[in-house]
Amino acid sequence: MTSFTLTPEVLRHPDSYKWTLYPQEVLPLWVADMDFAPAPSIVAALKDRLEHGLGYHLLRGDPDLTRLLGARLEQQGVPPLPEGGMRFLPGVVPGLYAAVLGLTAPGDDVLSFTPIYPPFLSAIRDHGRTARTVPLLQGELGWDIDWAALEQAVTPATRLLMLCHPHNPTGRVWTREELAGLAAFALRHRLWVVSDELHADLSFQGPHTPFVTISPELEQRTLTVTGPCKAYNTAGLGIGAMYSHNLALLDRVTQASAGVMGHPSAMSVTMWRAALQDDGAWLAAVLDQLRQNRDRVTAWAATVPLLRYSPPEATYLAWLDLTRHPRAADMQAFLLSEAKVALNDGPPFGDGYQGFVRLNFATSPEILEEALTRIGRALAQE
Ligand SMILES: Cc1ncc(COP(=O)(O)O)c(C=O)c1O
Repeated sequence: MTSFTLTPEVLRHPDSYKWTLYPQEVLPLWVADMDFAPAPSIVAALKDRLEHGLGYHLLRGDPDLTRLLGARLEQQGVPPLPEGGMRFLPGVVPGLYAAVLGLTAPGDDVLSFTPIYPPFLSAIRDHGRTARTVPLLQGELGWDIDWAALEQAVTPATRLLMLCHPHNPTGRVWTREELAGLAAFALRHRLWVVSDELHADLSFQGPHTPFVTISPELEQRTLTVTGPCKAYNTAGLGIGAMYSHNLALLDRVTQASAGVMGHPSAMSVTMWRAALQDDGAWLAAVLDQLRQNRDRVTAWAATVPLLRYSPPEATYLAWLDLTRHPRAADMQAFLLSEAKVALNDGPPFGDGYQGFVRLNFATSPEILEEALTRIGRALAQE
């Protein structure tokens, strides 16, 4: 056990989605929460905030949070944002929906790579836009962009490219060369780009390269969404931000969601400020544990016949290809009933992903070991 790992007894709080959806004998390695306690500085800031009443938080935007996040982005190489270039959201997914509403019209086409975090697809489809999905190529060394398929997917009605960087569920961290290729593609076809960089702080590849750092021209066509909930494990508090150097673009998105977005809660703002002011020791320890867990999954995967898998370069999600296994047609249900391990099923991540499952390894080494043993045993018995 690490100092920050919580026990199943503690995690099985009746309000926990991850730990209560399945019966108690099931190990929940599905929804993207970490089984880790929040950073002590965040807990202290939240306790302090509670001492001061819970009235409306600064409704015109929190200047400290704007400054702190702006400084963090500049450290990552993002050119300073104009006044009003950063706007807060109640979560990152609302930002994805608002971006689709503001930057496209019903009937327009929107590009996304698959497999993809399912709300990308629902954000496109729920309001009458068409998803033009481009499957990533599964090479020996990992998941790659199929550049020819990307070109072919563009239609006269295509307005927007939705990028997930780092990518959920494959864990790819797009390289500067790949980002430059995507930038050239977006400029060539005059597309807007929404870049979801929520997993940026969970990279095993070193500092994050924000998509907008690729070129000044691209800054004018890009809206980036981000938030603290993956790196700091605070999804229960809900907050996010969208930023762009193009204020007209942000205005379109803000107007398209006028009145329905709500405002971030006082506790969520306090949490994000504390996260941005933390000394970094907690996050470094978490990343260290995640890297060890990732390496353990990689070593295990090499021993499982019929399994294809590429180690993620970021995040705590392992995207397992079991399409060659005899139980591929009901893999998630099979592992739930036979291994008593709950994973995310492949099909919501896009067409063609039956037989894939997503495993969340942000848990204690003990729980991970038990889950891998159970999965390996169940797969071998068929
Ligand atoms: C890429 C990505 N975007 C957005 C979200 C959800 O963000 P929020 O809970 O702030 O809406 C997730 C959650 O796993 C995610 O992986």
